[in-house]
Amino acid sequence: MSQRTFIAIKPDGVKRNLIGKIISKFEEKGYKIVGLKMLIPSLEIAEKHYEEHKGKPFYPRLIKYITSGPIVAMVLEGENVIAESRRMMGSTKPEEAEAGTIRFEYAITKEYNIIHGSDSEESAQREINIYFKPEELCYNWTTMLEMITNEG
Ligand code: RTP
Ligand code: MG
Repeated sequence: MSQRTFIAIKPDGVKRNLIGKIISKFEEKGYKIVGLKMLIPSLEIAEKHYEEHKGKPFYPRLIKYITSGPIVAMVLEGENVIAESRRMMGSTKPEEAEAGTIRFEYAITKEYNIIHGSDSEESAQREINIYFKPEELCYNWTTMLEMITNEG
């Protein structure tokens, strides 16, 4: 089932020069990038994004962290992309992340864990709408392989 998900490289990922490496993993896997931009999340955006965590002990630090610098926000499209991209990210706690996952390779603490990914179809839709206007998304393009195949 083709799905869309929202992924963000968090400020620590950007500050550690990991943008290219992380995007490459998703491109190489075969997901299609249909939205991509860099922004410093405003307080309003950060609070909307993480409203499910409001009131938790780590919430104030989470908001401070996510608004502390640029993030790279993207929308990926592909078969089962919501669950699979979460599997590629690895567990929230780096020490529990499976070998080979993004958080295993790069994250040091559960607080500063490099990347975010939507955890359900509902949160994907909600988060895409928080970060992207409909006209900022590019759904209708074909890969070179698809183009060449169709021309033949
Ligand atoms: P995310 O939403 O960022 O993709 O991460 P997640 O689903 O794996 O984890 P979640 O439970 O939704 O937590 C959101 C983010 O809050 C920070 N956090 N800090 N100090 C703590 O105990 C703690 N717990 C969570 C992390 O940045 C986590 O990714
Ligand atoms: Mg989450």
